[in-house]
Amino acid sequence: MALLEVENMRVAIQDPGASAQSIHVEPYGPWLPDGWVVAIPNISFSVDPGEVLAIVGESGAGKSLSALGALGLLSAGSKVVDGTVRFDGVQLRPTRKLEKKRSRWWRKRRERRYEQFMEELLDEGYRGVLGTRIGVLFQDAVASWAPTAMIGDQAGEVLREHTDMSENEIVDKVLDALGEVRLPKVSKYLSFRHELSRGQAQRAMIASVLIKGPDLLVADEPLSGLDAPVAAAVLDILRELKARRGLAMILITHDLATVAATADRVMVMYGGQVVEEGHVSEIFYRPQHPYTEGLLGSVPSISHKRLVSIEGAPPRIQDVPKAACAFAPRCGYAVEACRQGRPDLRPIAESLVACIRSDELDLAGVRG
Ligand SMILES: Nc1ncnc2c1ncn2[C@@H]1O[C@H](COP(=O)(O)OP(=O)(O)OP(=O)(O)O)[C@@H](O)[C@H]1O
Ligand code: SF4
Ligand SMILES: [Mg+2]
Repeated sequence: MALLEVENMRVAIQDPGASAQSIHVEPYGPWLPDGWVVAIPNISFSVDPGEVLAIVGESGAGKSLSALGALGLLSAGSKVVDGTVRFDGVQLRPTRKLEKKRSRWWRKRRERRYEQFMEELLDEGYRGVLGTRIGVLFQDAVASWAPTAMIGDQAGEVLREHTDMSENEIVDKVLDALGEVRLPKVSKYLSFRHELSRGQAQRAMIASVLIKGPDLLVADEPLSGLDAPVAAAVLDILRELKARRGLAMILITHDLATVAATADRVMVMYGGQVVEEGHVSEIFYRPQHPYTEGLLGSVPSISHKRLVSIEGAPPRIQDVPKAACAFAPRCGYAVEACRQGRPDLRPIAESLVACIRSDELDLAGVRG
């Protein structure tokens, strides 16, 4: 059984200026408050126990919206409006059914009631697992620590809240976790966030996430902003955690070496949709979607390479065309049919691919 299972999730964002031609205004419009549009129309993914799923794609593709949306952690201006999320078989958010268009008054009233109902259910579902069985690692580790309390005290907070451990036991647990991420234990326990380097702050954050022994770690660009050697050290820690603790992860990253070194499966996103998903070796050596080929850039080796940028710019997530392949304007293999319908994600060989031409194309992956 999958550890995390996300089915038909739809995420909306606030954008008063969204194009009326966007795929995302209809048919989902009736359910959204004014000024909201759907950014991720429909996404499903799962993570097995001990498995690492990497989510890759250019900036603005919807990677964070997808991962954080599944955890009920979206910031103001974005929200999940439909879909089911299960963790270890327990449903965290109820399925929401779209309903046909009604009057504006009816919609407002229904929306208010629905929001209230959802909030209660969501609170209940996520409270049981977030911070305990699911740990989250954000990009800016320094900002994730409060400035006025010592790192060790903050790291132990979750144990004070969720267990009846004594203060001595909590301190021991925190010191062990700091040791596990190779931070000098006592001195870092007593540090404030401004006394840590970025790399140390990220490692301390990993330690604080590990304290409750989560089954799933969701890491959103955990290495960005770190110097290469520091990033390599943090990556090493993540790999060790996977090997030693069997920790499952969702890893959002632009870095090919990170994906190659840690991931079992890769999900490639473009314009709010998954365009290819498969085992890491399939994606790297036998990509089947032109966008994946472009991202890999046919690099001779995957060591220390970032996913390359492709010529042209990706669409704004809220302006993805309604009835065409979103990648068509940048795709060197595009034909007329690509502009006449949106390709569905379908199984091809070992992967899932959303391209009408994947059967006939012979795309280049990483060499060597
Ligand atoms: N809270 C929000 N309010 C309004 N729009 C948002 C919000 N969050 C995301 N968006 C929009 O959705 C798009 C996708 O956001 P998301 O954060 O998922 O991108 P991403 O793939 O994680 O990109 P990056 O690699 O830059 O982190 C953004 O470009 C932005 O236009
Ligand atoms: S469907 Fe057409 S435009 Fe889209 S990726 Fe495939 S070949 Fe390119
Ligand atoms: Mg992001």
